[in-house]
Amino acid sequence: MNAYKLAVVGGDGIGPDVTRAALAGVHAAAARCGFSIEATDFDLGAERYLRTGVVLEEETVSALREHDAILLGAVGDPRVAPGILERGLIVALRVAFAQSVNIRPVRLYPGVESPVRGVTAQNCDLVVIRENTEGLYTGGGSLSHAGTEHAVALQNSITTAAATAETVEFAFQLAQARRGRLTLCHKTNILLHAGGLWQDTVDQIGQRYPQVEHDYVHADAMCQHLPLDPGRFDVVVTDNLFGDIISDLGATVQGGLGLAAGANYNPRGTAPSMYEPVHGSAPDIAGKGWANPAAAALSAAMCLAGLGERTAALILEAAVASVLAELPSLAGPDMGRSTEELGELIADRVSSIE
Ligand code: NAI
Ligand code: MG
Repeated sequence: MNAYKLAVVGGDGIGPDVTRAALAGVHAAAARCGFSIEATDFDLGAERYLRTGVVLEEETVSALREHDAILLGAVGDPRVAPGILERGLIVALRVAFAQSVNIRPVRLYPGVESPVRGVTAQNCDLVVIRENTEGLYTGGGSLSHAGTEHAVALQNSITTAAATAETVEFAFQLAQARRGRLTLCHKTNILLHAGGLWQDTVDQIGQRYPQVEHDYVHADAMCQHLPLDPGRFDVVVTDNLFGDIISDLGATVQGGLGLAAGANYNPRGTAPSMYEPVHGSAPDIAGKGWANPAAAALSAAMCLAGLGERTAALILEAAVASVLAELPSLAGPDMGRSTEELGELIADRVSSIE
């Protein structure tokens, strides 16, 4: 029997609740498909930071590295200055584990209503591939003359040929396995240097994928095309910041942040990949039991696929989709069931679905 070691970082706010619900589905899928999951909780996030002053130390990174995959809820807490947890934990792990590609499917499941008129399950099925370790997220820069009217902030953006090529190659492979269409999303009309490198990379790698058509859309124009005409996209490849922004837009199109899954993927398999919903810790609803665990459960399904358990992944995804189709509302108290109850329902559905 295959056995997998899964590191679980619930994190902050709604993170632990949605992760627990997702894990219920994972354990049910393991039982049904005949493999075992050994899940180990890692105490990371705001509480630990406030208690110890430590966000992430080398020892924990080494311990996480020993696992086959990481399941993450979310981090971020109003009591902690912005960036300390988000950069110190999530961005740090993406870099430490060479999770160079962020995979964010935008799919409207049958029976789920998009808030955007005209978007249907037939015309909304695309994947955003986001470069995950560079761009403006590298964090370099400075603030000089802070607190004066002469303050100067510099925020560096880095685009390397190597990371761009790795992301673009992954996107072409995915497009080839899907509907054979790839769209580069950037801002080549203003960000000439970085944009030029992205476009050249797509043109060059594209020559090796003659079956994949590729085109280009500016990031600002994407904010119109994605909600109004999602059907024109198959795989969208983009840089770190644009990917962050357009995948929240994609989340809205597919029914809300509570439904949008993601993977921080190491394409070379040199370290564990990390699976997390697109949403954050949602402090506005934390502790209320209203968070939709679908995004976390769909991320867990991506995790199972990443581990090579494709049947289990498809069953978990189908179970989530079937539960979503029955919900009177996709978020808030009108959902009719708590986060925990939805986790149980998903797990039951995993065991019973045909
Ligand atoms: P958010 O994604 O946490 O929440 C945005 C809105 O969506 C809120 O109104 C929230 O209630 C709603 N929402 C999010 N997830 C939901 C779910 N599962 N079910 C129902 N409604 C849901 O973004 P926000 O408020 O900008 O950030 C909150 C904190 O999370 C911040 O500290 C931020 O830095 C952090 N964050 C962390 C991320 C991560 O851990 N990967 C990603 C995004 C934000
Ligand atoms: Mg985001």
